[in-house]
Amino acid sequence: MPSSANDVRKELAKIFKTEFGKSADVVASAPGRVNLIGEHSDYNDGLVLSMAIDRRTYTAAGRRGGDLFIAFSNELGKKTSFEVIAGRFEHSNFWVNYIKGVCALLGEAKPIEGTNFAISSTVPRGSGLSSSAAYVVSIIEAVSSLYDIKLKDIEVPVLARRIENEFVGVQSGIVDPFVAKFAKEQNALLIDTRSLDFQHVPISEDCSILVCVTGVKRALATTEYNKRRQQCHQALTTISEKLGKKLHTLRDVSIEDLRSVKGSVDETLYARAHHIVTENERAVRTVSALRKNDMSMVGKLMLESHMSLRTHFEVSSPELDAFVEIAEQLDGVYGARMTGAGFGGSAICLVDSAYEEELSNQIAQRYKMVGFENGMVFLARSGMGSHVERS
Ligand code: GLA
Repeated sequence: MPSSANDVRKELAKIFKTEFGKSADVVASAPGRVNLIGEHSDYNDGLVLSMAIDRRTYTAAGRRGGDLFIAFSNELGKKTSFEVIAGRFEHSNFWVNYIKGVCALLGEAKPIEGTNFAISSTVPRGSGLSSSAAYVVSIIEAVSSLYDIKLKDIEVPVLARRIENEFVGVQSGIVDPFVAKFAKEQNALLIDTRSLDFQHVPISEDCSILVCVTGVKRALATTEYNKRRQQCHQALTTISEKLGKKLHTLRDVSIEDLRSVKGSVDETLYARAHHIVTENERAVRTVSALRKNDMSMVGKLMLESHMSLRTHFEVSSPELDAFVEIAEQLDGVYGARMTGAGFGGSAICLVDSAYEEELSNQIAQRYKMVGFENGMVFLARSGMGSHVERS
């Protein structure tokens, strides 16, 4: 795999030329992300603190005219073609549906003709690092630029979520594409998923993020992700009834409200709501600790978040727990937690930058020693939001 972003960009330009016989008109890219805290909060109108990483998906695109669309995926080594029939695209295999979704929805604004695509990515897939949002946002940026479709910034993540929901069948929230669009280097992004207001929160250069990939692939569509969404909804309905108040989302439930219904709400639903309500509070405390540069406090809150996801929300896995337990025992680690939807995927560790390499090696070795063979640990620098270059 090419090492730097520039290498990937250059390699993709060559691939495009080889596949289509001419240069791309536009190359867009968007990053993967790690959530620092605020997990499973976005579909409950909650607060999420996230950070884009320096792994990106690149989409090169060029006009070809007519009705034929051709797409080449460098990762999959696959080339496929499809047509617009009576203004509509047929659903087909997973990765192509994203491209069709983008062309169909952007096509409502302005006619989109046959297009060539070549796509390459350095975001590990199925690892909880939001490879699908990086993918879909890079395609939206490429197609809208290619056809001069003026989108407001906020329309990009909103459209990306619609594509995942309507074309791919995953009930994902707004956060991943939001970060892919709005992230800034050396900053975390605090998102209020109710108002969609956001703030950049600087992260000290003295600390680093290690991404610990479990090697257990998970696709959101096939996990319990959609079930957790339903359970949060059920919890809300029951809590509203018990409190005799009309609540719109779990964001409206205070800790006091929650405690007052303990014992009269199904235990599992109570546990799910407990995670969501306390996670919002932890997100607020994490932002204030980051602003004070109190990394020990940030680390402590990350660990609390992990424990809540493990016991109350039940989305962790033995591999994720192993990474967190290993990290907790090492000097130079402030904290660790699973990141993303869970059920496999990745964990993150917040570490003192002075020891980042040594810790990365130690964590990887110890993960192997406890019996997990397919893990990988890498250092993630903060990344920037989506970017478009026209030739
Ligand atoms: C996935 C979804 C996000 C979010 C996280 C959990 O990454 O795509 O919208 O719900 O899980 O925090």
